[in-house]
Amino acid sequence: MTELAYYLEMKDLLRTEHLSRADVDLLLDTAASFASNPLRETDALAHKSVAIYMTKSSTRTRLASETAVAHLGGHPMFLRGDDLQIGRGETIADTARVISGFASALIVRTFAQSDVDELGKYASIPVINGLTDTDHPTQLLADWLTIREVFGKDIAGRKFTYIGDGNNMAHAWLTMGAILGAHVVVATPPGKWAPAHDAVAVAKKIAKNSGAKIEVLTDPEIAAKDASVLYADVWMSMGDPEHLRAEKLAALAPYAITQQLMDLTTKDSIFMHCLPAHRGEEVSAEVIDGPKSVIWREAFHRRSTIQAILYHLNRSELQGNPEFGQN
Ligand code: CP
Ligand code: NVA
Repeated sequence: MTELAYYLEMKDLLRTEHLSRADVDLLLDTAASFASNPLRETDALAHKSVAIYMTKSSTRTRLASETAVAHLGGHPMFLRGDDLQIGRGETIADTARVISGFASALIVRTFAQSDVDELGKYASIPVINGLTDTDHPTQLLADWLTIREVFGKDIAGRKFTYIGDGNNMAHAWLTMGAILGAHVVVATPPGKWAPAHDAVAVAKKIAKNSGAKIEVLTDPEIAAKDASVLYADVWMSMGDPEHLRAEKLAALAPYAITQQLMDLTTKDSIFMHCLPAHRGEEVSAEVIDGPKSVIWREAFHRRSTIQAILYHLNRSELQGNPEFGQN
């Protein structure tokens, strides 16, 4: 390995903004090949184990991670939050060091982004963010693989719109769109449920070099007008305080994706959702179960993309975005 290659090597996938454009292109191309032939690299993780540690619920990310590891010839070890001594006061640093002695990678889903960053800092193995309160990088790779399948790589003139809560998905939507030079729009209620200022700032910083257009709006109709994609997420995320439910759902009610909103989009538009979905809240059944919905393909791509991430991190083939540091 040359000195330069060593310098550019990215050990972990902790945050969406750590990915460079070249990394995303590489991951999506590899993921596309795993989607059509999942058993193409069954020796990549042979005799290796991958720890999957989750302190929040998961259907897709867990299934995708376990099957991706198996398809690469490895052994997935699922660890629920309270399975580990971390809940009894063992430090994150010590936990990271111990897991590094047994596993070749760690996929982690938890609340605080800083905990995932710290695991990455002290683990000698790749650490992959499987969702935090503020980010969801593996989901965005599956989303963009799906988008490329539908629209191809030439996205000039297209608009990609997320409507709803200014949460982890909204942040990742802006950041990944920025990396890919896309026109990305997020429409949320103003104030409490708008995307975090620092997340918007990150996306805008990336957009300066990538040529992306970033719009953060409060009007769902303006956001939907002529969009190629309308994207929804749940209104109550894991970890959201229950006592705010009524207030939050009332604030978000005008942001439901209905057929009327879909009618404002382009003729060839699609509807996307990271899932789980709540029909009748963030999206109507008519839309999510309708002809424009690509949710099942999108969910299927969770595995192809996690397989690609494990494959390339294991081979030290991601370079990272030097502007934001890799760890
Ligand atoms: N989209 C997603 O991350 O789904 P799970 O919460 O089921 O993993
Ligand atoms: N915003 C949601 C995403 C679920 C995949 C949550 O964090 O619960």
